[in-house]
Amino acid sequence: MWPISEERRVESRSEAGPNGGGHRRVSDGGRSAAAASAVLRDRPSCCDPGRSSAISVPSSLCEVGGRLRIVARAGMERWRDRLALVTGASGGIGAAVARALVQQGLKVVGCARTVGNIEELAAECKSAGYPGTLIPYRCDLSNEEDILSMFSAVRSQHSGVDICINNAGLARPDTLLSGSTSGWKDMFNVNVLALSICTREAYQSMKERKVDDGHIININSMSGHRVVPQSVTHFYSATKYAVTALTEGLRQELREAQTHIRATCISPGLVETQFAFKLHDKDPEKAAATYEHIKCLKPEDVAEAVIYVLSTPPHVQIGDIQMRPTEQVT
Ligand SMILES: NC(=O)c1ccc[n+]([C@@H]2O[C@H](COP(=O)([O-])OP(=O)(O)OC[C@H]3O[C@@H](n4cnc5c(N)ncnc54)[C@H](OP(=O)(O)O)[C@@H]3O)[C@@H](O)[C@H]2O)c1
Repeated sequence: MWPISEERRVESRSEAGPNGGGHRRVSDGGRSAAAASAVLRDRPSCCDPGRSSAISVPSSLCEVGGRLRIVARAGMERWRDRLALVTGASGGIGAAVARALVQQGLKVVGCARTVGNIEELAAECKSAGYPGTLIPYRCDLSNEEDILSMFSAVRSQHSGVDICINNAGLARPDTLLSGSTSGWKDMFNVNVLALSICTREAYQSMKERKVDDGHIININSMSGHRVVPQSVTHFYSATKYAVTALTEGLRQELREAQTHIRATCISPGLVETQFAFKLHDKDPEKAAATYEHIKCLKPEDVAEAVIYVLSTPPHVQIGDIQMRPTEQVT
């Protein structure tokens, strides 16, 4: 855990009202924003020890009572204090998304099996003075009972879910010709089934509370849109093609149900996380090489896309964001 500077403690607590009222944009916004970014950037992340990460999705700086404060991004004010569930929040993209949402003032339930990482991230967000809160929850998403208990705990302790970010996912190196059925099941259970169970439960939670503006965001992959000739990712790719179909099917069912709840998927190319180290768990050099040949996306780039889709006006429905590292060919 890094020491929090005095400057950071003073500046980061937002007091924005629902409309961000009472704030005046500072005249040297560019310089101040750069200074604030410098404060927020390049610190080691608790969920990715030893690595430097851009920890913040930039927010606006406003002057309140003579002090600079970080306030919610335009379009994000309406989500303040509402509840987002982020699956797979113990590292990588999920941790970056959870952090970005807490920074925007949301109450975030972050779940995964390695709950200690989420607890550390929650403490980090608290020390940073972010306006939202991160609530860690231990859940094995390959177990439906675990998922149902989590939704029932959210219901009894926090009312319900307004945003569901289905991020948890994995790849195992099980090819179609000789892979193990258990490896396929591991991928299917989390990437497809858990995502579908969480989606159903999140929708039911919105429906029972008459929440008509919720949002379900699936972290898909470019592998959900084209098959790379790399045998160890073929089954994984099939699970992500399923996510493409599930997101569009969901969008259609939400329209049939005459709600304004939105369904989006975000489809990144290579993102530098622990993902390849879990795929190639017997060959860490191969895993490391995955991220070395090009400048990859960072988890924060994907978090930025999540904030963008959430911040669009309620009548705008983004279906899919496909994003690759600029240098990625496939
Ligand atoms: N990295 C990439 O290049 C890339 C590219 C495109 C799409 N994606 C997608 O992005 C998403 C996040 O991946 P990442 O790159 O951030 O990978 P990561 O660093 O390996 O993180 C995966 C997350 O999923 C969670 N998870 C896996 N199995 C779980 C289970 N049974 N129960 C609960 N949580 C589980 C992990 O938590 P625990 O292990 O603590 O449970 C972890 O928090 C995935 O859907 C992945 O397919 C990644």
